[in-house]
Amino acid sequence: MTHEVEVGPAAELVPGTIRGAGRYAVGNSAGEPFAVTRRCRHLGADLAGGSIDGDGCLVCPWHGANYDVASGRMTRGPQGIFAKVPGLGAGFKLLTRILPLGRGALVERDGTMFVR
Ligand code: FES
Repeated sequence: MTHEVEVGPAAELVPGTIRGAGRYAVGNSAGEPFAVTRRCRHLGADLAGGSIDGDGCLVCPWHGANYDVASGRMTRGPQGIFAKVPGLGAGFKLLTRILPLGRGALVERDGTMFVR
């Protein structure tokens, strides 16, 4: 049997929401619920503490890297001082083409969302 973790009431997973559930960051990007593994590929920040930007990307709370939640790939590298390191952002974007964030499967039962 596949292990499931309760996320919470489906009605509370409104666009722009993100929360942690087990090893996943679960949220809603532009009306589409998603679940991705919650450790940033850069330095391991908890992506469940991040945010959703205007393009629907998941933004890392530590250094602002962006992720496409559908593919799990980084679409913008770490910002701040890290953005000044030549090739760093491109390197992480390439890394997540090979090792994207994992994606969980969401299921809703009786108004409650679960991830597995
Ligand atoms: S830990 Fe996520 S961008 Fe640095």
